Amino acid sequence: MAKRTVIANWKMHGSRAEARALARGVRRLLNNRFAAVEVVLAPPLTSLEVVRQAVEGSRLLLCAQNLHWQPQGAFTGEVGADMLRDAGCSHVIVGHSERRRLFGETNAESGRKVAAALDASLKPVLCIGETLEQRGGGRTWRTLSAQLSGALKSVPKSVSGSLAVAYEPVWAIGTGKNATPTQVMEAHGWIRRALKRRFGPSEAARIPILYGGSVNPANAPDLARVPEVDGTLVGGASLEHRSFAAIVGAFSEREG
Ligand code: PGA
Repeated sequence: MAKRTVIANWKMHGSRAEARALARGVRRLLNNRFAAVEVVLAPPLTSLEVVRQAVEGSRLLLCAQNLHWQPQGAFTGEVGADMLRDAGCSHVIVGHSERRRLFGETNAESGRKVAAALDASLKPVLCIGETLEQRGGGRTWRTLSAQLSGALKSVPKSVSGSLAVAYEPVWAIGTGKNATPTQVMEAHGWIRRALKRRFGPSEAARIPILYGGSVNPANAPDLARVPEVDGTLVGGASLEHRSFAAIVGAFSEREG
């Protein structure tokens, strides 16, 4: 079974001093607790180094929020996978709905990013999720299917253990309106079946499927109990160390 993973996505928030204080706060609160959960921090690029220093020697891991698929070159404003590894990252978020919606990232581009991350031994956290319009129009599974197959096309079966998928319904991100446990159960079950078809049952079982979208300390315990939920990607509630640590605690209590 996949190891449970909780990721803090700080998005475009905070100075280096704030990032350092937040990372230290998380480290202090988690200390050696909840060891069953892999805890990952995704600060803005400018704060990767201060967070790397703040978590050094702890089990907290470092994540980037995006990457370019080329290793280097004339791509002003972009950062490649090897550069992120060099900066201390073990994980990278790919295909976040904000990248797709605001910056036009396509399924094919997400696929190139997943491949580039895997090549550099970075664990891609592939985000997929439907909009309210797609859900309302009965196109949820078609949307998830296109996002998954577009991004995983070139992933060899044997590296599936180096991959995570985050189900993030677009209508639940930053809205305070999280998906219900039943909706999450349906979507995660569907994603697990799709991964089994793509990678085979034992490889698919090693891919954590995280839920993301308005997770907070109050709703985390219910979400953590949903079958096939292997962790969470947290935005807003990860900007305060106590609420983030409470969410990690909730996911450490899931049975199984
Ligand atoms: P949210 O963001 O927790 O603020 O809804 C989640 C995400 O975008 O990953």
